[in-house]
Order: sequence, then structure tokens, then C-alpha cells
Amino acid sequence: MRFDVITLFPEMFCAMESGVTGKALQGAQAELHLWNPRDYTEDVHRTVDDRPYGGGPGMVMKVEPLKQALEAAREATPKSRVIHLTPQGQRFDQRAAREMAAREGIILLAGRYEGIDERLVECCVDEEWSIGDYVLSGGELAAMVIMDAVTRLLPGVLGHEESALQDSYMNGLLDFPQYTRPDELQGREVPQVLLSGDHEAIRRWRLKQALGRTWIRRPDLLEQRQLSDEERQLLEEFIRTHQGASASSQEEA
Ligand code: ADE
Repeated sequence: MRFDVITLFPEMFCAMESGVTGKALQGAQAELHLWNPRDYTEDVHRTVDDRPYGGGPGMVMKVEPLKQALEAAREATPKSRVIHLTPQGQRFDQRAAREMAAREGIILLAGRYEGIDERLVECCVDEEWSIGDYVLSGGELAAMVIMDAVTRLLPGVLGHEESALQDSYMNGLLDFPQYTRPDELQGREVPQVLLSGDHEAIRRWRLKQALGRTWIRRPDLLEQRQLSDEERQLLEEFIRTHQGASASSQEEA
């Protein structure tokens, strides 16, 4: 998959050279092309910002260099849609990551300052996405978040055992807890079932923990998801144990 990023800070994207994204960029699975509007300026100061009409604090990205950088990226990859990263966009989630991973490429437009001229959004942007309800100083980190979440879903990027299919959110639930050696840590033991070698019991325990955690931490996710008979039964068991445990801890207190 091809990622084109329009950014005033191309050096930030060296972060993509590490780990899973780095492996995909070195292999054949992903490519990254960076386009800097500053390279399309014509004045001696290489100006990339401009004052907002109507006044007020802050600057807006200067139209002409940004427009030219966008046009150059679109010409290089005409099938890719232009994605503007902005807190005003649709909320990015695992479903969006899966959908984007099926595309041949995307052009990520990382804005800076107070944003970009609305007419550029109207003429040249196909989609607007946000990575959450907070304001970053620019779209670069959001572009990298999207690149990371999408790249790990590309075929051949993750190994079998780390498969994205097992991830939290892939099945609409949070992840079950993980344990490694030692089997006792500061007086806390690894759940016995994980040492049992009984794969079916382990599968059921993990599913129950995933359901239980989602019920406690993100009940909104459970509301969006149909439960199978087995899942409903495991969740009921979890809730009974959980309520029993909180009742006895209240008695102790
Ligand atoms: N740019 C600034 N804040 C952002 C956010 N939350 N998501 C996407 N792009 C942004």
C-alpha cells in the first residue's frame, strides 16, 4: 500500500522506520512518499503560513504551496483519495483502519497552525478524519497513527502468532490480560488455567476475560455487538463472579 503524506515536518516520519511499520516499509508491503509544501514556495523566506481573513490569533497554511504539494501528490498517485487530518473529521477506529487497508493508497494531509483554507477542503479533500476528541499541534501524529493502524493489517506484515485477527477491537472486544514469566510476581500468581495446557479451557477463559473487561471498561462496545450463546454464558459467569467479589470486598471494608 502506498502512503503519501503532505507535511511541513517530513522529518517526524522517521518514527515510521521503527518496528512493524519499518518492516513493512523495508519489505514490499508499504511505501511512504513525503511532500513538503515548503518545497513549493517561491519567496526568499519560503513562507508557508498566512494571516486569516477576519483576523484573530494564529495563522492558516498558505494556500499556493499547499495546493501545489497536493497536486503533485495527486498526480503521482491519481487513485488515492485525499484524507485531511483534523479534529473536525469523522472519528478514526478499527473499522476505518480495515477499510483503508483494502485501498491501494491514501494521501494524508497533515495541517499545521489554525488549519487550511476551507476552499482547499472543498476542492481537493475527499475525506476528513480525527483520531480523537483532543487537539494536536498538527496532523502529523494523526497521520502516523493511521499509517500504523493500517499497515499492521496489510497481508504479510504481522507474523502468524501476532496476527491482527487476534487484536482487541478486531472482534469488537477489548483484549484479555496477558502474562509471562515468572509465574509469581510480588505475591501475584498467573491464573492457573494458563499453566494447564488445556487449550479449550484457555480459549474460554480468555474469551470470558475479554468480555468481562469490555463489560466493565467499555460497555458501549458490547451494546454494538451481538453475543453468541457461549459469549452470553461466559459474560454472565464473569458478572456473577465479579459481583460476588465486590460484595465480599465491601463486607471486609
Ligand atoms: N489535528 C489536530 N488534532 C487532530 C486530531 N485530534 N485528529 C486528527 N488530526 C488532528
